[in-house]
Amino acid sequence: MKNIDWKNLPFGYFKTNYNVRCYYRNGEWGKLEVSDSENITMHIAATCLHYGQEAFEGMKAFTGVDGKIRIFRPYDNAKRMNSSARGIMMPEIPEELFVRACTMVAELNKDFVPPYGSGASFYFRPLLIGTGPQVGVKPADEYLFVVFGGPVGPYFKEGFNPVKFQIVHDADRAAPFGTGKIKVGGNYAASLRSGQRAHDEGYSNCIYLDPATHSYVDEAGAANFFGIKNNTYVTPESSSILPSITNLSLCALAEDMGLKVERRPIPVSELAEFSECAACGTAAVISPIGAINDRDSGKIYNYGTEAGPVSKKLYETLRGIQDGTIADKFGWTLVVEG
Ligand code: PLP
Ligand code: COI
Repeated sequence: MKNIDWKNLPFGYFKTNYNVRCYYRNGEWGKLEVSDSENITMHIAATCLHYGQEAFEGMKAFTGVDGKIRIFRPYDNAKRMNSSARGIMMPEIPEELFVRACTMVAELNKDFVPPYGSGASFYFRPLLIGTGPQVGVKPADEYLFVVFGGPVGPYFKEGFNPVKFQIVHDADRAAPFGTGKIKVGGNYAASLRSGQRAHDEGYSNCIYLDPATHSYVDEAGAANFFGIKNNTYVTPESSSILPSITNLSLCALAEDMGLKVERRPIPVSELAEFSECAACGTAAVISPIGAINDRDSGKIYNYGTEAGPVSKKLYETLRGIQDGTIADKFGWTLVVEG
């Protein structure tokens, strides 16, 4: 075990020993290769540099109460990466290859997987990029799949304490029929300017609205949104939001706890009706929202200074399954052997 200050880790890049790579050439994937380099070299005309042929994933592993390392829902991330690949004309990665690469990264860097109870986790960043050269707007014929990872702390400095979000009307992260449903770098580039402005104005991030009409809630920065009212878990349905694996898990847990689950458009005005709201995602886990400020109208929606009871219960159940303290009856975790 490394001598790392696990409790004070930021959410950021952390150098570890190894990453795992695989090249796609001549129409097929090669063998997984272990690398100790943090760099990649590529052609100056690689399509990832010019035309955004790039997709990534975010996934976590945890050391359980029993000392075993568990990866949370890696096959779902593999499926989503393939949906991103299809969306921008990149080759799909066999799910077993994807999961094997992630498992190898955890095994090779097990000294960097935070101990049980530290509050930190091991974050994987699988990356798929077009490396073959093109100058015309065409997909590459060569690709690189890389998985690296490292220990991380909370995404928001507030941890499980409520954060503030800002509704923006002058920025979209994706177009109505664009790439919002897949995890490609361009969506994040499109969110940098409004995200930085939200920080500068004192918020954790933006609430983006549906890009077609700007009247429904879409996403909470790099996380999905959910609200609770009348024993119901409500989360947006939209053609421009990323299908969050955390949100999918919370919908199942909410139903299991006896809540009704609704996936439907959420009009901005409905924000006044929720007793609890939160952002959810791999990095964000569940980040309770204390207040939402509409940047145009100035209207403020308040949800209090502490996480609400439903968010708390969902958080504890999700984290318990990830840590092996609660039975994984949905079969979500993959134990890393060895
Ligand atoms: N929405 C966006 C835009 C994201 O970047 C993420 C992070 O992956 C999520 C939602 C949450 O998805 P997941 O729970 O699968 O991490
Ligand atoms: C994640 O939650 O894994 C994300 O990808 C969010 C962000 C760090 C980009």
